Amino acid sequence: MATLADPNTQFTQLPHPSPVADADRERLIADPGFGKVFTDHMVVIEWTEGQGWHSHTLGPREPLSLDPAAAVLHYAQEIFEGLKAYRLDDGTMALFRPEENARRFNASARRLAMPELPEDVFVEAVRQLALADRDWFPKVPGGSLYLRPFMFADEPFLGVRPAKHYKFLVICSPAGNYFKSGSPAVSIWVSGAYTRAAPGGTGAAKCGGNYAASLVPQAEAIARGHDQVVFLDAAEHKWVEELGGMNVFFAFDDGRVVTPPLTGTILPGVTRDSLLKLAREDGLDVREERYSLDQWRADAESGKLVECFACGTAAVVTPIGRVAGEDGEFTIGSGGPGQLTSKLRERLVAIQRGAAEDRHGWVVRL
Ligand code: COI
Repeated sequence: MATLADPNTQFTQLPHPSPVADADRERLIADPGFGKVFTDHMVVIEWTEGQGWHSHTLGPREPLSLDPAAAVLHYAQEIFEGLKAYRLDDGTMALFRPEENARRFNASARRLAMPELPEDVFVEAVRQLALADRDWFPKVPGGSLYLRPFMFADEPFLGVRPAKHYKFLVICSPAGNYFKSGSPAVSIWVSGAYTRAAPGGTGAAKCGGNYAASLVPQAEAIARGHDQVVFLDAAEHKWVEELGGMNVFFAFDDGRVVTPPLTGTILPGVTRDSLLKLAREDGLDVREERYSLDQWRADAESGKLVECFACGTAAVVTPIGRVAGEDGEFTIGSGGPGQLTSKLRERLVAIQRGAAEDRHGWVVRL
């Protein structure tokens, strides 16, 4: 269980000897894309066995010095989160459900035998960095500051056991759209050869290893002309689980909305959870239930399946227009964004940006 932070926890503000010049920053944030541009601050907190969390700093972003025997480099004890700071209509910034990221971070930590970080320290670290880097807010429509909290084992030790020293960091990246614009919907490749997560494995944890294992199937999807890979379950190779880096939803002509259940092999997305709540509020028949690839194809071909979309912090809500696999391909609906997909996306984005009422208390102003 995560405990509450000591109210006296202070982040030492380290001086920044060479902040990025205004003109350079303006150039970098004009069209940042996703994950390519980084701000010039970061948060670092350390954990030592017997001492707990200590040395909280907010300072200049700089390279890390790591012992070549650091446990993360050998046994991959690493977890991360992704969340965004949004610009509200009044010009201030806000985070969206950051405590959910903090909670999931600690669930990942437990699975990877790592120490839990008090949720309010997690949120405070993210908050302080977003505020320090507020001038990096991108100029593109729909832009945000993408915050990347992560933790890794940096104890130099080659025995296989949980490390005794960790670093928690938050870095920040001005971000535009995750997918290149131009296409109204993305196209996805069903991986025949690879699965993402097996029962009892780390599928529900946000750990680097899951993403490392998705790179070959994702590269295969790209090589075949698609945007993302979608994985089937490892046991039966039948049920649709999730995409390389996002959850998936299906919408039917009878008003049903379906997403795969959280059985331990699927990442519990914050966007997924928010959309489930919004769709239920709208009176839709929302179900978390298994859905097979065969059914997916049959429903798309018969017209019962009218929409399909991917969702995640980075992807927001992205329509899926085309699905291809070893057995051929099929189109969903018109192949472009459907009504429900667009409506849910608009509702979510409006709440995130303070343009719609925040009935759930999801928006945390900075
Ligand atoms: C996110 O949506 O924040 C993720 O971590 C997924 C990754 C593909 C960028």
